[in-house]
Amino acid sequence: MSVLTDAHFFMFNRYLYIMASHPIGIFDSGYGGLTVFRSIAALLPQYDYLYLGDNARAPYGNRSFETVYEYTLECVEWFFRMGCPLVILACNTASAKALRTIQEQDLPRIAPDKRVLGVIRPTAEMIGSYTDTNSVGVLGTKGTISSGSYEIEISKFFPEVTVYPLACPMWVPLVEYGEYKSEGADFFVGKYLDQLMANAPDIDTILLACTHYPLLADKIKKHLPEGVKVVSQGPIVADSLADYLQRHPETELQLTKTGDMRFYTTDDTTDFDNHASVFFGERVQSAHLRVGKD
Ligand code: DGL
Repeated sequence: MSVLTDAHFFMFNRYLYIMASHPIGIFDSGYGGLTVFRSIAALLPQYDYLYLGDNARAPYGNRSFETVYEYTLECVEWFFRMGCPLVILACNTASAKALRTIQEQDLPRIAPDKRVLGVIRPTAEMIGSYTDTNSVGVLGTKGTISSGSYEIEISKFFPEVTVYPLACPMWVPLVEYGEYKSEGADFFVGKYLDQLMANAPDIDTILLACTHYPLLADKIKKHLPEGVKVVSQGPIVADSLADYLQRHPETELQLTKTGDMRFYTTDDTTDFDNHASVFFGERVQSAHLRVGKD
């Protein structure tokens, strides 16, 4: 006689969920994507969502192209197995280093009817409308900045805008480890902003091109001359997703709409739950996902 254990029950529940639910997948290397998810959920609360933070392997910002691509693809494939017809890479580093290869090489092979979108293009489409001086500072991880993606994309929509990119490699660790309110954070905020503004004093708009950085926005604003706008991506990406879903009924019609939100992390769930609320604005309860090869 077989005995049904909690593990069986959990597996069965998961099976039912995958069969019945077609959520929008939202991915980040860690917590940062929650700042984007927060805006998306506020604007489009009717959809089901599945969030995954690859906290066990974060930060991605200093990792090689190959590694970011490999990790991102592994997570995207998991979203597909979980029934997501659409996945948003709510991570600039993954958008810069993995998105194009996934869209052009992997999707036609593994899931031609599914879609993966990033955060760089929707942001580039909008950022030129914020600046009066046509000078925009773009702050991101080493990976995002060295990819040159923002200069390329912004020049397509706003050729008159000069982009001043700067990598701020210390900012993600400060945020990821909960030090974003500390004096150490003041030091590192000042260090990068002083460098940027000394190089280009006519900058009137600063784009936070990393989804972790909104947690440092208050300190960043305080450090900048009055009148310099600090732009976070959440609302821009949410508007762009709403527009995308309107223009793509073939994807929109596949999505289930019960307002369900589920959270997964590749690291410790208690840590994730304790930190996530600061990014997401409400308490969350996560489940664990094991990644990587055995
Ligand atoms: N939130 C990711 C981004 O937008 C960050 C990065 C990281 O893991 O370094 O780039």
